[in-house]
Amino acid sequence: MRTIAASWVNGHLEVLDQTKLPLAETTVELTRLSHYTKAIRVMQVRGAPLIGIVAAFGVAQESLLTKDMPVQFFQRRISKAISALAATRPTAVNLFWALEKQREVLKEYGDKPSTCARRMLEAAKAIQSAQVAAERKMAEASLRLLPRKCTALTICNSGPLATGGIGTALGSIIHAYKHGKVTDVIVPETRPRMQGRLTAWELEKAGVPFTIIADGAVGLALKAKNIGAAFVGADRIAANGDTANKIGTYAMAVLCREHRVPFIVVAPESTIDRACPTGSGIVIEERDGDEIRIVGGKRQMPARWNAWNPAFDVTPNSLISFIVTEKGARRGGRLR
Ligand code: MRU
Repeated sequence: MRTIAASWVNGHLEVLDQTKLPLAETTVELTRLSHYTKAIRVMQVRGAPLIGIVAAFGVAQESLLTKDMPVQFFQRRISKAISALAATRPTAVNLFWALEKQREVLKEYGDKPSTCARRMLEAAKAIQSAQVAAERKMAEASLRLLPRKCTALTICNSGPLATGGIGTALGSIIHAYKHGKVTDVIVPETRPRMQGRLTAWELEKAGVPFTIIADGAVGLALKAKNIGAAFVGADRIAANGDTANKIGTYAMAVLCREHRVPFIVVAPESTIDRACPTGSGIVIEERDGDEIRIVGGKRQMPARWNAWNPAFDVTPNSLISFIVTEKGARRGGRLR
């Protein structure tokens, strides 16, 4: 399947290097396991669903490279590949969900490496296609929730780059724009990794008007602009509906409550972690402080200054108006 974010071509995965966007559109060829782990770790690919898709292809790639080896060796290499991919980033549950799918294939076909490799590639492609189909359903379900013609607010990037399909939250926003229910989008820059520029890049391509704001301007935007709803993605949704998403999402949800603006989470069922009862069980990735101290490749402050760089936060279900998945919209942030 050809998508802008990641396509399997000529026996390997080709991904758009998101660290270079929007100034350069460069592709990276992932042909070895180490390329896959690096691409996820350094965020050449990112966004919960896409991380899962890329990891699934990473396991498939390793199985294709090792399928002619003796069975025990093959099995050991694939198990190691799954562990290496699982260690890349901790918060997005789609990563572990996709790896679990490949572990099941290994369990079933591991004694026939060639068959196993073929099945793993099929499994990775199926995960990708299912995600694309799910996003269309989410966009339809989200459309029905919009109260009136309005400006939409989002955070981070949850568009095609983060998912491989039309996007989760951003897919819903673009769909609503096409149906005349959204007029434009407010895009917080989303420091420190600036995923807002990826969202803006996608909105420009889709012909949707947008305005970039500093993260600190979200409160004033809710007061001063005609914002009718906030749509955000998710990296992991606990069984009670508490939702982990990009750092700043929790603050946005609190501000939406204050301004009586619906706060809508859009994510596939694969983002729901039923083994995790509440948000307090979600592991929050903490990234290098230099992502804060260095801006645009230039050091802005001494390395000795303490920096805390959590990449995600958890929004309690009580602040969530709806959770939208491919199964439809659940009211109130409650999954059941
Ligand atoms: O650190 P990132 O860029 O991988 O984080 C991505 C997000 O937080 C997205 O909003 C999230 O994955 C949900 S939407 C695909």
